[in-house]
Amino acid sequence: KQMLNIVKMKRMKQDGDPISMITAYDYPSAVLAEEAGVDIILVGDSLGNVVLGYDTTIPVTLDDMVYHSRSVARGAKNTFIVTDMPFMTYHRSIDETLRGVSRIMQEGHAQAVKMEGGAEIADTVKRIVQAGVPVLGHIGLTPQSVNQIGGYRIQGKDEADAKRLFEDARALEQAGAFGIVLELVTEEVAAYISSELSIPTIGIGAGRGCDGQVLVYHDVLKYTSNYRNKRFVKTFGDIGEQIRSGISAYVQEVKTRQFPAEEHVFAAEDRVLDNLYG
Ligand code: KIV
Ligand code: NA
Repeated sequence: KQMLNIVKMKRMKQDGDPISMITAYDYPSAVLAEEAGVDIILVGDSLGNVVLGYDTTIPVTLDDMVYHSRSVARGAKNTFIVTDMPFMTYHRSIDETLRGVSRIMQEGHAQAVKMEGGAEIADTVKRIVQAGVPVLGHIGLTPQSVNQIGGYRIQGKDEADAKRLFEDARALEQAGAFGIVLELVTEEVAAYISSELSIPTIGIGAGRGCDGQVLVYHDVLKYTSNYRNKRFVKTFGDIGEQIRSGISAYVQEVKTRQFPAEEHVFAAEDRVLDNLYG
C-alpha cells in the first residue's frame, strides 16, 4: 500500500471516499494500525491522558511528543503520520514554533503537525506551511484550552458559535491547512463546514457529514480499566479485559507452578549433570 499524502487526501474528499484516522503512541500500536490499513495515524497529545496518566493534555511536552512520534514512525513506515504540537509550543514566538515543528518532523519523523485553534493561529499556520510542513487544523472542543472553555462541552450549538467555527475553519483553509479536525461539534455545523471547504474535515464527535473520522486508540479498543462510555465513541474491541485476564492467568500459573512446563525449558546434556554433581 502506498503512503497517503495531502494531495490524495483532497482527492478522497472530492471522491466522497472517507478518511480513516486513529491515534497511536508507540511502536506496537503503530505496527497494528498500519497492518489494519488505517489512512492516517495521529500521534495525539491525548497520550497525556491515555498513556501518561495525566488528567488533561496540558502537561504534555515537546520532548514527550517527539519521543512517542519517533516510536510510532518506526512501526508505521508506510502510513501518513500527523503529530500534535503540545500546549503552548506554538504561541510564544514564530521562532520557537518553527523550532518545535522542526523537532517533530526531524526527530519525530512525522509527515505533518496538528495544532489547536482557529483564526487566531492562522498566521502561524501560514508560516509553517511556507516552511514546507503540512498543517492539520483542530477546532471545536480544543482540549489544550479546557481551563478557558470550562469543560469538555459540545461546540456549535447556537448561531454565534456556529458562525465562529465556520470563520475559524475558513481562516485555517486560507492559511494553507491541508485539513481540519472538528472535535465535539454539532452534526449540522460540521456538515456545513465540510461542504463549504475544499480541504477535508476529520471529525471526532462531529457527526456523519465530515470527510473522515478520528478516534483515540484506547477508546476504539477499550484499552484501559473501567472504560467509561462516551456517546461519540464506538468500541470495536475489549483489549483491557483481554490484557487483564491474560496477565491474571499468567500470575495464576506461576503461583501454581503450571508455568513453565516441560515444553518451555531447555535441557543440558547428561554429562553436564554428572560433572555438576561430581
Ligand atoms: O490528541 C488527540 O487524540 C486528538 C484527537 C482527539 C483529534 O487531538
Ligand atoms: Na490532541
